[in-house]
Amino acid sequence: MRYFTSSDQKVLDFGCGPGVYSLLWAQVGYEVFGFDISPNNIAVAKRLAEKYGFEERTHFTLGVAEECAYPSDSFDLVTGIDILHHVDIQRAVRECLRVLKRGGVAIFKEPIEAPVFDRLRNTRLGTWLVPKTPSYERHVTEDERKLVADDLETIRALAPDLSTRRFRLFSRLDSFFREGGDRRASALEMIDGRVLGALPFLEPFGGVIVLTITK
Ligand SMILES: C[S@@+](CC[C@H](N)C(=O)[O-])C[C@H]1O[C@@H](n2cnc3c(N)ncnc32)[C@H](O)[C@@H]1O
Repeated sequence: MRYFTSSDQKVLDFGCGPGVYSLLWAQVGYEVFGFDISPNNIAVAKRLAEKYGFEERTHFTLGVAEECAYPSDSFDLVTGIDILHHVDIQRAVRECLRVLKRGGVAIFKEPIEAPVFDRLRNTRLGTWLVPKTPSYERHVTEDERKLVADDLETIRALAPDLSTRRFRLFSRLDSFFREGGDRRASALEMIDGRVLGALPFLEPFGGVIVLTITK
């Protein structure tokens, strides 16, 4: 699905962090707005925009997902990468719907609990192998948690046309073998693509979900 049609379109990067995705959307041609609760992230996002020459097409501000400081019906697209699992989902999705224009689309990518895998993950061996305690190096914060089925119901109650796709079966193991900064598709991600394409009933075992909502 192609969402970008003209450089008049405005995108909101919901919980933009250091603005890496915001700059990608600016590179596509959108006018980009981004907010985050962290002043450091907003400062980095502004510096990156300046460094790559996007300061005119990007607007970064401090803000919270549960109470957005934008007028209603402002954005053609809202994107959120790894943000809903940090926030009050009901309030944040309400705000997202409020600031979207009618006919606008919101796309979120989030971690989600998967049957079997998370059972194993939460055993003593699992948490010994990959600790869950907050850690700056591993980007684990106190407020985060994986989405669960109830969260999807909460979102669907606000946005009945919610559609979802799940990814990340074998490519979970990438976290053991790959450098964090490498954004190319890994061999395991390619295998996941093939497996989930051929056997879509395995989707509920995927550890990442992409949520698409149209207002
Ligand atoms: C995992 S990071 C993702 C950042 C960005 N979307 C990215 O992918 O680079 C989660 C972000 O959520 C922000 N955050 C946490 N709680 C928030 C809230 N209530 N409102 C806005 N941002 C929040 C954090 O400061 C952090 O930048």
